[in-house]
Amino acid sequence: MLYSLIRPALFLLDPERAHGLAIAALKLLPLGKPAPDGGPLAIRVAGLSFPNPLGMAAGFDKNAEVPDALLGVGFGFAEVGSITPLPQAGNPKPRMFRLVEDRGVINRLGFNNEGADAALRRLTRRTGQSQGKPGIVGINIGANKDSADRIADYVAMTKVMAPLASYLAVNISSPNTPGLRALQDEAALTGLLDAVLAARGPSQVPVFLKVAPDLTPADIDAISRIAIDKGLAALIVSNTTISRPPLRSRYAGESGGLSGAPLRELAQQRLRDFRKASGGAIPLVGVGGIASAEDAWARIRAGASLVQIYSAMAFDGPDIARRIVGGLERLMKRDGFASIAEAVGSE
Ligand code: FNR
Repeated sequence: MLYSLIRPALFLLDPERAHGLAIAALKLLPLGKPAPDGGPLAIRVAGLSFPNPLGMAAGFDKNAEVPDALLGVGFGFAEVGSITPLPQAGNPKPRMFRLVEDRGVINRLGFNNEGADAALRRLTRRTGQSQGKPGIVGINIGANKDSADRIADYVAMTKVMAPLASYLAVNISSPNTPGLRALQDEAALTGLLDAVLAARGPSQVPVFLKVAPDLTPADIDAISRIAIDKGLAALIVSNTTISRPPLRSRYAGESGGLSGAPLRELAQQRLRDFRKASGGAIPLVGVGGIASAEDAWARIRAGASLVQIYSAMAFDGPDIARRIVGGLERLMKRDGFASIAEAVGSE
């Protein structure tokens, strides 16, 4: 309600400034109660008990400032980051565009973030304060643009973040760090994952891998096989796309990754592709263009054990989390399922 009143004013602002205000507001608002464990939408994935399957995707809370506020507005989990070892300014502005007519976003932020130390301080304080109510907070890790050894960056991030993370998400699918997506190639991916898994030490924190939607069938087969062989805990499908379906907005020609409604069909298809390639042997996290309970439900039926959103929050405000979660419960009952787990891949 409140968001629909302030949205016109927010939309007059540059999207990055509007995003900064959204983070500031979440910091100021009194913390809501996180979703209770063991409710009707609860699901166990990667050894973790999620109170509901809806998460905030990476990129919204890049610096781990508001994970508990996100859990408080109804998300079942929050993924912070992407965080890189060193602070990084990202690309020149403007670098984020709101495609209002398309309900989409194009960004070429380039992993702007305050770096590992700043995030570490916040996350350490958080776990200190939240004894007994930790909530599920994933940490999405990336490599610095100027790093001479990107795999070493992922290893360093794994070592420092593993003790604070419910799960780690290895992001090799941002289109805005030149060459990063080459880590999705078979040999590079094997080397990267061996290094990351070994760097966890005794923590054995679950490792998720986040992939691009712009992959060939051969890529999808190879990534699925490697992920299963290495014992990854989940695949996150997907990041933003560098492809351009037909768009109406005047920002359609901007370079960067496209997200929101124009990504929905492609992300849904990739989710099906990964489900088929993996045969259900590894849990999938569906993300890309989800804006309603119906979208989330379709992604679960196509094989997602969990779903995430980002762009829709910019258009619809934080109430969207409770709307999607409430709607999912109704759809699950309507279609005669006793749990989300039972509905995964049932289409
Ligand atoms: C992102 N996304 C993203 N993903 C990631 O792994 N690390 C990141 O730092 C970011 N940063 C980021 C910034 C902005 C402005 C956007 C819009 C997106 C990708 C995001 O997590 C998600 O995969 C896509 O946006 C698709 O989901 P939606 O937005 O269509 O729900």
